[in-house]
Amino acid sequence: MAAPVKKRVIVVGGGLAGLACTIKLAEEGVPVDLFSMVPVKRSHSVCAQGGINACNEIARQQGYSEWMHFDETVLGGDFLADQPPVLEMANWAPKIIDLLDRMGVPFNRTPEGQRALRLFGGSLFKRTFFAGATTGQQLLYALDEQTRRWEAEGQVKKYEFWEFLWPVIHEGQCVGIVAQDMRTMQIRAFRGDAVVMATGGNGLIFGKSTMSVICTGGAASRCYQAGAKYGNPEFIQVHPTAIPGEDKCRLISESARGEGGRVWVPRKAGDTRPPNSIPESERFYILEERYPKYGNLVTRDIATREIFQVCSELKMGVGGGNMVYLDLADTVKKIGRQAVLNKLEGILEIYEKFVGTDPLDEPMKIFPAVHYSMGGLWAGFVKDPKSGGLKFGDAGNMSTNIPGLYAMGEASFAYHGANRLGANSLLSCIFDGLFGGTCVKNFATDVAAVPSADVPQETYDAVVKQENDKQNALLHNNTGNENPYLLWQEMGKWMTENCTVVRDNDKLSQTLNQCQEWKSRYKNVRLSDTGMWTNQNLSFTRALHDMIALAEAILKGALQRDESRGAHFKPAFPDRDDANFLKTTIATYDKATDSAVISYEPVNISLVPPRARTYGKKDVKPTAT
Ligand code: FUM
Repeated sequence: MAAPVKKRVIVVGGGLAGLACTIKLAEEGVPVDLFSMVPVKRSHSVCAQGGINACNEIARQQGYSEWMHFDETVLGGDFLADQPPVLEMANWAPKIIDLLDRMGVPFNRTPEGQRALRLFGGSLFKRTFFAGATTGQQLLYALDEQTRRWEAEGQVKKYEFWEFLWPVIHEGQCVGIVAQDMRTMQIRAFRGDAVVMATGGNGLIFGKSTMSVICTGGAASRCYQAGAKYGNPEFIQVHPTAIPGEDKCRLISESARGEGGRVWVPRKAGDTRPPNSIPESERFYILEERYPKYGNLVTRDIATREIFQVCSELKMGVGGGNMVYLDLADTVKKIGRQAVLNKLEGILEIYEKFVGTDPLDEPMKIFPAVHYSMGGLWAGFVKDPKSGGLKFGDAGNMSTNIPGLYAMGEASFAYHGANRLGANSLLSCIFDGLFGGTCVKNFATDVAAVPSADVPQETYDAVVKQENDKQNALLHNNTGNENPYLLWQEMGKWMTENCTVVRDNDKLSQTLNQCQEWKSRYKNVRLSDTGMWTNQNLSFTRALHDMIALAEAILKGALQRDESRGAHFKPAFPDRDDANFLKTTIATYDKATDSAVISYEPVNISLVPPRARTYGKKDVKPTAT
């Protein structure tokens, strides 16, 4: 009798979630095909700066606990996150830090040799581990090393510079993918007994963001268009502190504030004096005055709105524009230049390189920028009634509504609800991968109705043909006159202006109308490069279609949610409305009408009841001196 074919899993995305899942699957004895559009060490996780949250013994001595980490996270998310997955993540966090330490992550240390902790948004406790201000890079490199180890043992096969194009679905089960070699442009199918999507966020829909240029959300959008539900699309995080740029925005980590950085503007609107010459009494410390308890470390949704309001309504931004100061002078005074460099050098270098001044000599000028997608592919969970967390190894955890198709990391909607706390994203990515890897393995080996080896070849060929047809239509659209890059820029401008920090139903409706126009104009896109060697123009233009599809889901979700919750703020509906909107938005793609259909599902609030979320706000009006 022939030996049974060994089950294989496909992981799409080489960031922290994808690598953590790959390593766990390899440990579990499952061979993995790992796909990434870029070398895995260039995945967007490499840009994460400030740190990773967990309770450890030092935090515990301050009175902190895993439960408090859980509670802060659901409060930070304005109670829109299903609670059991958040509890499980918080409980795993200390073990994850220990594991990363053993893998060699160079975490900063205290003089006594303990792993150091810093403050981060939404907490009054130091519970964020960090490696300078390049934490994502250090974590990614550590996981990359482990992945290479499994690669050397033949357990992992890496496909770098391959783009995911479409999931292959047979009798309702995901049985593989179709992908394209971004060098030769070959399109081919791969069989997999489960597929994990760990493809990151969708910031490019907003034009400029802190995300890398590969973060189109195209892969998640393709799964959505193939039938996967998309959860909470309207929840987009705008980070309070970034350097606005012509090409993109660059993050200046929350850790600058965690280490004592202060956000302020001159009290007198239009004051043109150099910042260091403005006396203390003539500075308005926006967050410290309005949120004395949390100060500069109030959650991101709130800090962003305050900065935005001071600039756009009160016209008190630096030089009258969209800019506020982020000032490290007090930190330098307190701990000295070298100690600040030890903790923040990564971001200080970025600022000096792109702005030209040394942030230790003069305050940085920053403004909010699109940073993270709380929404993403809907992913289920199975609650363990004993612990309140998740049932270990259950194939239902992290699974989309398509059996065999999993969503992890930023591509998933889980954990962060209406607003993510800083430094919880690296944690959720690694937790998803490590915890979810076992669930995926169990699906592939025990639950899958059909082994992918038994699926007829025609099923795969049909999807390859679909993608070749799509590509040929783009390559040969000789009568088209629409420049895809200009269309994308236009969409980004509309989306940023009308669907980020402040939302208004009239403007959302106008943008939604505009979105129908983008869809029809897309039919006329013309490629400037039709060559069949590393054609990035083709890849981007294909993704533009998928960005427009998700933009529609984001807009419809935002339009229909008549309340304010976390990052979703409508001045016409300024309060959270639990009676009508304590529910997860589900966007489903309707192929017949080529549009998003919105429905709702209950949120699991079985562990803590929702409560008011004020962070001790004081109604402080700035008074000019
Ligand atoms: O501000 C930061 O360092 C970003 C961290 C995060 O998004 O978690």
